[in-house]
Amino acid sequence: MNLGQLLQHGQPHPDTEGRLIAHARGYELFGAVFFGGLRPHAYVRLARLSGARPGDRVLEVGCGTGYLTRRMANAVGPGGSVLGIDPSAEVIAYSRRKTPEPHCSYETGVGEALDASDGSFDVVVTALTMHHLPEVLRPVALREMYRVLRPGGRLLVADFRPPRTRPVRHLITASAGHVMANYRVDLLDGLIADAGFEVRGRGEVRPWLRYVQAARSERTS
Ligand SMILES: C[S@@+](CC[C@H](N)C(=O)[O-])C[C@H]1O[C@@H](n2cnc3c(N)ncnc32)[C@H](O)[C@@H]1O
Repeated sequence: MNLGQLLQHGQPHPDTEGRLIAHARGYELFGAVFFGGLRPHAYVRLARLSGARPGDRVLEVGCGTGYLTRRMANAVGPGGSVLGIDPSAEVIAYSRRKTPEPHCSYETGVGEALDASDGSFDVVVTALTMHHLPEVLRPVALREMYRVLRPGGRLLVADFRPPRTRPVRHLITASAGHVMANYRVDLLDGLIADAGFEVRGRGEVRPWLRYVQAARSERTS
């Protein structure tokens, strides 16, 4: 068993086939080590790349321990709002304890069936979550993100970019598992476009993230 599996739920969840994080504090420790000290910088950068502005309503899908959610709350300020959703009750409880910002809240929920009205957010973000969904659910979750964004709203999807060198890839397989080491993050652009979005940018954030910026067209109903 690798470290990634140790942090996950052993039992299937009744509402999703996604792989859930069950051990919030263990995940935080793993994240700190895995990013080699670059996690704060990387996540502040993601918040900037999302294009969120003061006053925006933001949804984060697969918020985990709320690390990005809190940075999104700083970006939108007290006049905005951020909602983080995740099917794992353990990480939601942890995130609520860790979050003093009153305009930042958390609910249990799944990305493939969002409990939100059409067009109710200005920005949707999701980080390191798509690879936790089985392939068949990834397009479903992206279509849901499209549905809940207002026309003109922005999407930021960031996910794990597997290492390019074989020795580091072996290290990732041993520590986090085969799925992460062989993840096809390059397929995200096509999935995002197929969900109806205009892809507007892409790039990498050190050490492990690849991101895609997209928007829902102003003209869509
Ligand atoms: C690797 S963690 C990423 C957490 C956080 N976004 C971050 O960047 O630290 C992946 C998260 O996806 C969540 N997840 C699994 N299945 C999901 C689903 N169907 N919908 C939304 N989130 C899901 C897991 O519980 C876990 O918290």
